[in-house]
Amino acid sequence: MNVLLSAEQIQQRITELAGEIEADYPRDEEIHLVGVLKGGFVFMADLVRAMSARVTLDFIAVSSYQQSTRSSGEVRLVKDVDTRLEGRHVIIVEDIVDTGLTLTYLQDMLRARAPRSLKTACLLSKPSRRLVDVKVEYIGFTIEDKFVIGYGLDFAEKYRNLPHIGVMDEA
Ligand code: IMP
Ligand code: MG
Repeated sequence: MNVLLSAEQIQQRITELAGEIEADYPRDEEIHLVGVLKGGFVFMADLVRAMSARVTLDFIAVSSYQQSTRSSGEVRLVKDVDTRLEGRHVIIVEDIVDTGLTLTYLQDMLRARAPRSLKTACLLSKPSRRLVDVKVEYIGFTIEDKFVIGYGLDFAEKYRNLPHIGVMDEA
């Protein structure tokens, strides 16, 4: 495995992102982060700790049906949020935007709940893989089309606990 982004690089970028996000909202208004499980849990944990006390959070879990040859684009909700989103400033927090299908599904679903605003933050983006033109307001790093692991991202449920992001060796 080759290290693509070190733990220090990731932390530095998250500090910047947290500052950008907080500057975009009125100071006295709450920001409600919705983390996407499982991959988004590490990014979420670091992002909220880089932000101020006006942040609240919740989690949602989805799974996508994927065949080996192609992604069906079907996304299934595994766990919903416990909190009402109506009238709140909501930000979806996800590990990576790849084809964009998962985030399109989530954005459509959460927008239907009438949040005051809805934005998306992704640690990573692979623009060359996009199938749908999904809007992501906050992106940590734009990367090439390589399969990455660590910092929440898995390969067959492993490597989520790595503190850095690495590229899988070609088998
Ligand atoms: P999308 O619907 O194609 O944008 O898929 C996004 C999801 O695919 C992410 O939430 C990840 O769980 C997974 N994914 C996409 N690329 C990678 C990768 O390079 N490593 C690990 N998981 C990935
Ligand atoms: Mg994921």
